[in-house]
Formats: sequence, structure tokens, C-alpha cells
Amino acid sequence: MSSTPSSTATNHFNKSAENYEASTSGGTRELAQHAISLIAGLKPLTSESTVLDNACGTGIVTDIILQSGIRPEIHAVDAAENMVSIARGRFSGSHPNAHAAVMPGEKLSFPDNTFTHSITNLGLMFLSDADQGAREIARTLRPDGMAVVTGWTVRAPFTVMREVQARHTRAVLSGAGLDVHASAALDVHMGAETAEATADLLTRFSSRAFAAWSEEDKEKVPGVMEQIVRELAVPFTRASGSGVGIKLTGTIFVGSNPVISLSEQRGWRRMQPHLA
Ligand SMILES: C[S@@+](CC[C@H](N)C(=O)[O-])C[C@H]1O[C@@H](n2cnc3c(N)ncnc32)[C@H](O)[C@@H]1O
Repeated sequence: MSSTPSSTATNHFNKSAENYEASTSGGTRELAQHAISLIAGLKPLTSESTVLDNACGTGIVTDIILQSGIRPEIHAVDAAENMVSIARGRFSGSHPNAHAAVMPGEKLSFPDNTFTHSITNLGLMFLSDADQGAREIARTLRPDGMAVVTGWTVRAPFTVMREVQARHTRAVLSGAGLDVHASAALDVHMGAETAEATADLLTRFSSRAFAAWSEEDKEKVPGVMEQIVRELAVPFTRASGSGVGIKLTGTIFVGSNPVISLSEQRGWRRMQPHLA
């Protein structure tokens, strides 16, 4: 067993281990299922396979494989001991071929060319040294082995949270006695004069997302950010000038006191143009 580095991510997952699976609402399991189907489609999983469930968390990948009825040799490893103890509790006793160990992805204690299948579901981005983690995946993979690594690209649940906030705004306005006549969704931009300046803004804005990365990897963020901004940014013109940016959508609520409705106010103003 290797020593475990105490990183921010490991501390976080140690603390949240007990609620981890409930908090994912099945999304990580669903992605793991796809990853397993994909890798098994390329190289079928059999009882002769030797599988790595890397950064295993509570052992979702191992669980799915065992539930399929195939009994390969599986090693479920993770840097967070509380995650590992949940995974171990899940399989020990019932599945002698499934082993769980506390082990950082940067220092896998397996010999070269061990695994026929190597699965890292939503783990690589949490490693403090992802380059080293990837080298370990490559080193421990057999020459004819297959590796799958997953990550998030779009996280639409944040859209749902924003909608909750928007409805909350409408409700508190109504609660205060205002009639909310209309709301409009409008595209604006997080941007600056150039793609480079926009990338710089976004790099500062998103620094928490990369907090667990090594200094070397963090240094690469601005360059990659600029490349992606150039691919996704759209031109805009606003009062202060024009530039390029990433779209944001805002909602504008229009309300008034119920005593005089907006249409009544307009009609009233038409009759008294000097007041309009
Ligand atoms: C989002 S969870 C994914 C867990 C699991 N693979 C799944 O599919 O649910 C990320 C996992 O990465 C683990 N992790 C973070 N840093 C790690 C490291 N340096 N080495 C190994 N695992 C690490 C965390 O403890 C956590 O269990």
C-alpha cells in the first residue's frame, strides 16, 4: 500500500464519503455504466480479465462489473480512506476477487503491464498531479489493454439551480406585493476587448476549479483557456464598446404595485403627455 498525499480533494472526499453516492443522484453511476460498456465493447470483460477501478470512490465501477455477473480480478483503489472503506465493505466477503486499497493515483503500487482494463471514472481531474496519474495508468496497462477515463464537460444541473434562483426572485417580488407582469431572458456576455483578455478574466474567475492541480498544470490553464475561448467566444457590442465573450443569460423581471397596472399607467400617461 502506498502512502496517501493529503490533498484538498482527498480531504473533501474523505469528509463527504458517506453521502457521496446519494449526492451524485445516479449521474456518476450512469456515466460509469457507459464507460464500462464502451471498454467492454472494445475488449470484452471476462473472468480472466484484471481490472483497475482507479480513484474508485465508493466502488461504483466495481459494483457495476460484479452485478453484471462477470467475476474478473478487480482492484478498487482511491486516495480517500473513507471512500475505500465503503468500497471494501461492499465487496469483502462476497467477492474474493475484488480488492480495495488506499492508494494515490499518482503512485499505483502495481507492477508494469498488470491490467487488461483500466477505468478511471471522474477521478483524473482530482489528482494533484494528473500527468503522473496518466503515466501510472499507462504503465500499469498491459500492452494489449484498454483504458477509459471520464470527466464532465457540460453540467446542466447548474441550469436547474439558476432556474430555482429565478423563480425565487419572482416569488419574493410577488411576496412583497408586486405584480410581476413579465420576465425576459436576455443574453449578455462575460467578455473583454480581446479573446486573450477574456481568457484572463475567466482564468481568475475559475481558479477554484483547478485548486487541486499541480503548479505545473495550473500554469497551463491560461493557455488552454485562451484556446477554448477562441473556439467558443462570440462577438458582442455593448454601451462601453465591443469585444468577444462567453454568453450568459440573465432574466429581467418587470413588476409594479397592483394598485395601478402598467397598462393603466400607460393609458394614464397617454392622457397626460406632459407627465410621460
Ligand atoms: C468524483 S469521485 C469519483 C469516484 C468514483 N470513481 C465514481 O465513479 O463514483 C473522485 C474520486 O477521486 C478520488 N481522488 C482524489 N484525489 C485522488 C488521488 N490523488 N488519487 C486517487 N484518488 C483520488 C477521491 O477520493 C474520489 O473518491
